[in-house]
Order: sequence, then C-alpha cells, then structure tokens
Amino acid sequence: MNLAPHTVADAVLAHWGHDPHALVQVLRETQAHTHWLSRPLLTHIAQALHLPLAHVEGVATFYRFFHTHPVGHTRVLFSDHITDRMLGSEALLHRLCQRLGVAPGQPDARGRFSVDRTSCTGLCDQGPALLVNHHQVVTRLDATRVDALADLMLAEVPVSDWPADWFKVVNRVHRADALLSGVAADAPSLPSVLAREPQALIDEVARAGLRGRGGAGFSTAFKWQACHDAAGPLRCVVCNADEGEPGTFKDRALLSDHADAVFDGMTIAARAIGAQQGWLYLRGEYRYLLPHLQATLERRRADGLLGRNVAGVMGGLDGSSGFDFDIGIHLGAGAYVCGEESALIESLEGKRGMPRIRPPYPVESGYLGRPTVVNNVETFCAVAHIARRGADWWASLGTASSTGTSIHSVSGDCERPGLYEYPLGTPISRILADCGAHQPQAVQVSGPSGTCVPASDFGRRIAFDDVPSAGGFTVLNRTRDLFEVARHFARFFAHESCGLCTPCRVGTHLVVRRLDKLAHERGAGRGSAFDLERLRELNTLLHSGAHCGLGASACNPLRDTLAHFGQAYAQRTGAAQFEPEFNLDAELSVARRATGRNDPGAHLHTEPLP
Ligand SMILES: Cc1cc2nc3c(=O)[nH]c(=O)nc-3n(C[C@H](O)[C@H](O)[C@H](O)COP(=O)(O)O)c2cc1C
Ligand code: SF4
Repeated sequence: MNLAPHTVADAVLAHWGHDPHALVQVLRETQAHTHWLSRPLLTHIAQALHLPLAHVEGVATFYRFFHTHPVGHTRVLFSDHITDRMLGSEALLHRLCQRLGVAPGQPDARGRFSVDRTSCTGLCDQGPALLVNHHQVVTRLDATRVDALADLMLAEVPVSDWPADWFKVVNRVHRADALLSGVAADAPSLPSVLAREPQALIDEVARAGLRGRGGAGFSTAFKWQACHDAAGPLRCVVCNADEGEPGTFKDRALLSDHADAVFDGMTIAARAIGAQQGWLYLRGEYRYLLPHLQATLERRRADGLLGRNVAGVMGGLDGSSGFDFDIGIHLGAGAYVCGEESALIESLEGKRGMPRIRPPYPVESGYLGRPTVVNNVETFCAVAHIARRGADWWASLGTASSTGTSIHSVSGDCERPGLYEYPLGTPISRILADCGAHQPQAVQVSGPSGTCVPASDFGRRIAFDDVPSAGGFTVLNRTRDLFEVARHFARFFAHESCGLCTPCRVGTHLVVRRLDKLAHERGAGRGSAFDLERLRELNTLLHSGAHCGLGASACNPLRDTLAHFGQAYAQRTGAAQFEPEFNLDAELSVARRATGRNDPGAHLHTEPLP
C-alpha cells in the first residue's frame, strides 16, 4: 500500500521518538518509502522536530544518498573505484543506460528508474558492483547480469524478487592471523574481562602498544585515558565503521564475520572509560549488514552483555552501581568525510557531516558534548583479543613500534583478491607474492589518501614507521596509466570535499581542472612545465592549509605519481609554452554582449600589439 509521504514520515518520527539528533536516520528511513524528499515533506519533518527548515534542508542536501528532486523508483548506483573501472564498470553502466533508455543521472520519463555512479562501495574484491536503492548491493557484474538486470527493471520487478545470488557478498580470507581466526572457544569470557578494574583494562591496552587502525595510528590507550580522565558524568564510545576509503573492505568482513568481537571491544572500551552509550556508525553502503548487526545486538542484550547491569559488573563511575551500556546503530548516507571522527559525531547528532574545529577533541567534548572515544572497527576487534590473551601476546606480534597484526583488503591486478592478515612489519613484496600479483608496477596502500608505492620500493614494510596502512591494498600492473589513476583519485577528493575551507573546496577542483587539461582526451601536449609547477604548489597549499585530513591528503596520489612515475606526466607536458586551460577571450564574450562592443579593443590579443 502506498502511504502519503507525511504519514510515512510520522511513523518514522514516532519510531525515533521525535529526537532531532536522529534527523539523518529519519530522512533515510522516510526516503526509503517516498524515494525522494520534497520541500513540503522536509517542512513537515522540520516542524515535527522543532528544527529550522534551513537546517533540515542543509542536512538533506549534504548527503549524497538523499534526493531533494525526483529520482527513479529503482535507483542504481555503479561503484566508481578504479578497480571497478579496471573490470569494465563504465562499459556496463553505459550498456544498462542504453537498455533502459536513460542518460546517467537522469530518471526515465515515467520515473521508474535512474542509473548513476557513486564512490567505492567497498566491494573491490568482487566488482564491478552496484548499489540498489541505497540498500542492496549487486556484485560480480558482467554483460549477462546487466542485461538480465535491465529486463527486470523494464518489467518493474520488485528488487525483492531479483535473484538472491546477485546480492551475495563473499568474504574470501586468504590469510588469517590473530583477528580473522576469531576468538578461541576456550578464551576468557567477556564477563570475566569486564570484572577487571577500568584502569587495568587501559593499562593492558597501553602495554600491548595498540595503535588505531583507522588511519592516524594514534595510541588507543592514550585516547582512552584522556576520555577516562575528562570531566562529566556521561561518556560515549563510537565505532567508526564508515570505511569510505576507496579500496578498503576489511571492516566489512569483520562486521559480517566477527561482529561479536567488535561489540566486545566496544563494551570493554565502555567499561574502561565509564561510558553508558555506544554507537556503531555504519556507512550507508553497508546497509545490507544492518539486519545481521541488529540481530547480534539483540542476542547480546538477551545474554546480558548489553543493557542494564551488564554481566553483573559493578561499573558506575563511583563503582557502587551496575555497569549499564548499550549500543545503537547509525547509518551514514554517502559522505566520505563522515569517516573523519568529528564529522562523524556531527552526523550522529543529526547534522551535516562537517569536521569540527579542534580543540576541544572528542575525548573531551564529543557526542552531545560528552567525552567520547572514537575507534576503528579493527581497533575494537584487536581490543577484544588483547583483553583476553594479554598485552604480551599482542606485543610479541609485529615490530617494537608497530605491534600486532593488520588486515589488508587486496584487490586490483592479482589472482586472489580478498582479505590477508599479517603481523605489522610484513614486506609489501610478501603480500604481492601471496595474492598472485600480475607484473605489478605499483601498489596503492591505504587508499587514495595513503601511499602509492612503486616497484622499486616493494621491499618496504607495512608499519607505522615505514608504510602505514588503514587496510587498502590495490595492485596496479604495468598496463595501468598512473596519471589516470591519480586523476581519478583527484576527482574523488574534489567530489567528497565538504566545502568548509577554501584550500580544499577550491584547491581540489583546481587540481582536477589542471589534470584534465593534461589528459589525452583534452589534447595531448597541451600541458607544460608550468602546469606541473602549479600542481606542486597546490599540493603544498592543500597539505598545509586544509582543515582536515581529507584536504591534507587529497594530493597524495599526485605527489607520489609525480615523484615515481614522472614519465606519465612528461608525455603530457610537451608544450614549450604555457597554454591556459580555457579560452579567456571566449569567456569575455558575455561582457562584450553586455557592453555592446566587439571592436578589436574588446578582445584579448594573442599577438603583441603594435
Ligand atoms: C576524510 C577522513 C576519512 C576517514 N575515514 C575513516 C574511516 O572510514 N574509518 C576510520 O576508522 N577512520 C577514518 N578516519 C580516521 C578517523 O578520523 C579517526 O582517526 C579514527 O576513526 C580513529 O580510530 P582509531 O584510533 O581506531 O584509528 C578518517 C579520517 C579522515 C580525515
Ligand atoms: S579539508 Fe576539505 S573536507 Fe576537510 S573540512 Fe576542509 S573542505 Fe571539508
């Protein structure tokens, strides 16, 4: 039955208790039924939540998965990571558009469907992939599957009746170590871990030398201690499952196959810092994991591992009351920047996901102003193991400054894409050999914001003091054009910039424009040494002037490919003289029309004036 949009919104609002902090969830769940969010609908939601319409509209227009204009009832988004493209995603997208008679991004005349692109969906090991209605994913696309998809869409067959096999997401673990092997059956139980004193738990994590697996490599115990010591009665633990870094899918695997370990880690963190509230911030692209995660939380509540008086532990801050802790799930809505921890907190609070000015840091003032610990999925999983097997065991894995193991999401030009877990300190060459890499010329470690490692450096090791990684490992063979890889990543950053600060908002687009000028399709040889100089300046500007890590790392692919694959740029910068990337005289035609002039003096002269 088709309910009126306002009726749908009212039911969703009631489910979320008319909590303005749940705005992102309210919009998401309402749109799941209404397909898009009209102005009257946003006005209705704003009134119901006692929020200004401008705020609600600002949120609705910030996230890519919200639509404030009509879209097709069945919305298909092709994952647009380089590995999807390497596997032919662009040709498949155009094939589907042709079969459906639509242009990318445009719904058909009857509003039945639309086809577009989206940033990496975290399925690089089984791409090309696409997302349907921001809910299900279809993996392993090929021409046959796309044709069958077109037939179903044209016949308006509901997504629930599409072949179940299409939605299958497989986690192929090729090398398991401490984390991917799971918690041993005879390991100490969670209640026995929680019975320890909070400070003892923090000290154990400190002695293990655990550093965060989300990218920055910050000491986990240091963060917990700061939060533990911060003032205020209420605290919060947040698991960052935004996993938006293109080419990374290890958190997906942990959440689907080791969710209990992740929730154990969050509960241990809560006990250590004295938190009552936990959030799992799940990227919108992983919506299909929600039922499994919710069922796991329900089971844990039934087992007394969440809720009031968890595991019978005395855990109030004064030590005299029970330890009360529960975890909610917040779904993102397609914004890479929300992986940045302060932007993530803004999103959790129902706002646009824009990074906060720091200090104060989340450990002092995070979710709703409460001291908050934000850790990555893998970090929490590691905590679950360390708390059971001890700091010495963890510290015995890896190296002195990079303890433990880390999980790599391997994809690209290799025979066995999937998940590989190694002790930190493992050489890149070992991972390449294990995954069956084909004539690799480079590996993109840790996604576009990480490092592009050339073949001459394959002896380097994955470790915080050598090549740090947040899990991405994309193999690029000798046929790949590293300039085009860098250009693709530049477009990604320009697209994902939240626009808060000028160096990033403008600078990322200037990088794209200049790389477009150099690209073959826009005329080989139009670039000159001057263009490379400007690109280097933009790299410096973004690195030093951007407010958050997105802008600061946006030029990393450019920096690395310029340094190691200069010939890819040299062949595009053959012009002896600088040529502007646009025709300035043509740009002035509007001014000439407005002033009624077209005489020689109103034109720019390419020849020197006499
Ligand atoms: C643009 C941007 C995106 C990020 N995305 C993620 C992410 O998807 N997952 C994650 O754990 N950390 C991400 N981070 C890092 C977080 O800000 C934060 O450092 C991390 O969640 C802390 O967890 P850890 O200490 O366990 O690594 C991102 C940072 C930036 C600047
Ligand atoms: S650097 Fe970019 S993403 Fe980060 S706050 Fe500035 S504009 Fe937003």
